[in-house]
Amino acid sequence: MPKPRNAEKPPRVAIAIMAAGKGTRLKSRLAKVLHKVGGQTMLEHVIAAAARVAAPRDIFAIIGHDAERVQTATQHTGINFILQEEQRGTGHALMVAASTLRGYDHVIVLSGDVPLIREQTIRRLWDFHAKQRAAMTILTAEPADPGSYGRVLRKRAGAPEVSGIVEAKALKPAQKKAREINAGIYAFAVKPLLENLHHLGTDNAHREFYLTDMAALLVKAHKRVVAIPADNATEVFGANTLAELAALDARLRAEKAAALMASGVTIYRPETSLIDATVDIAPDAVLEPFVQLLGKTTIGSGTLVRSFSIIKDSHIAEDVTVRPGCVIDGAKVARGAILGPYAHLRPGSDIGEEAHVGNFVETKKARLGKGTKANHLTYLGDAEIGAGVNVGAGTITCNYDGANKHQTTIEDGAFIGSDTTLVAPVRVGRGAYVGAASCITDDVPAESLALGRARQTVKEGWARERAKKRQQRAGKD
Ligand code: UD1
Ligand code: CA
Repeated sequence: MPKPRNAEKPPRVAIAIMAAGKGTRLKSRLAKVLHKVGGQTMLEHVIAAAARVAAPRDIFAIIGHDAERVQTATQHTGINFILQEEQRGTGHALMVAASTLRGYDHVIVLSGDVPLIREQTIRRLWDFHAKQRAAMTILTAEPADPGSYGRVLRKRAGAPEVSGIVEAKALKPAQKKAREINAGIYAFAVKPLLENLHHLGTDNAHREFYLTDMAALLVKAHKRVVAIPADNATEVFGANTLAELAALDARLRAEKAAALMASGVTIYRPETSLIDATVDIAPDAVLEPFVQLLGKTTIGSGTLVRSFSIIKDSHIAEDVTVRPGCVIDGAKVARGAILGPYAHLRPGSDIGEEAHVGNFVETKKARLGKGTKANHLTYLGDAEIGAGVNVGAGTITCNYDGANKHQTTIEDGAFIGSDTTLVAPVRVGRGAYVGAASCITDDVPAESLALGRARQTVKEGWARERAKKRQQRAGKD
């Protein structure tokens, strides 16, 4: 990552992410770093930023609280994990990492609960650290309200050198007006860090080893400790409470919506939409208020997503209409299709061009060909349906026999009458008709008519006779 200076060998730089804490202030069972902002866990955000700066093999997450789940949730990133079994503070987190860090010249330390940190800022911190030849470089900010953040005390106003970091709870009255906060993000030269780690004490409000104390310790050891402010304070905000988490989430969502609008996507009332960073939307798509677009979803140009629809991990092509109230998960929808209102497309749904999937229709592992219509009150599961098929209201594929799932095939141009049950495995041939209310248990050959229902019987005068008998009985009482 770092550029070699002159002929010097490039320094070996690790990134350590402190992610072992419980997050007591969140009052949640879930580990703090697994809470999500913008649809991704905080730790994934931090890892993503780190991975733009260093190779995964040089990135180490220090985990502890609920370590197994944290590791499972993030090991797809290919980074390494260091276990901090007992969480005795941010300084202790680095003590646990010491043997790993010995293989490096410098370490950039990130906090797992400061998720909006960007690649550029990490690089600025590193460049400054390298140029200053510092033992410790602290990333800082000056937000309007320094709140409960630790404060960085400069040796002189405007000078890069720092004398120490004071936690908010330990601020002396004279220090209270210090506005520059510690972002919890640092660069260290490994040698002086490791030489001084064991000098950290626990004489503080939480009886923990504070990494922040390293600043004063290094100054005392005549090492250079400097600080550099981030470009904007909000980037380094941490999430210690659910309210802070919601504020970070809102910010990410707003940024995403703004970027989409700048690229030509119409979003009405963007403050009501929930769009994950991972979603891709083509220009000229239109989103009505209150839609959720999640995961690896893509939306094509000219597609309209109406209110109250939730679309996750799905590919919606161009000129599709998603009417209100649709729930779409793991589905593929081709150009010009019309969905909903209130359609439920479950994983493996593959809806063809200009097909219609209407009110209260549920699909799962179902392919619908071009122009096929299933407009009302229908369940299509494990079904291969050709083009130009008309699926009548109330049609059900009976795909499950209590133990196994079976396939229903409906070939091109078939007509399935309303209230048909198709007991799979079963096939309806090309151009065949199925009469309404049929229970189809056997294959239907192409171009034939299948009727699978009881023949209607009519008892003429039955109601009249019944009424007469009742009257006679009433007369006797
Ligand atoms: C810390 C800083 C504070 C700074 C703030 C910025 C200390 C003592 N204070 O406070 O100066 O303004 O961050 O957000 O460092 N962690 C571990 N192991 C532990 C304890 C914590 O890995 O034993 C991790 C946490 O999971 C978290 C990060 O370290 O991701 C910071 O810990 P946290 O307890 O949130 O520190 P703050 O009180 O926010
Ligand atoms: Ca924190």
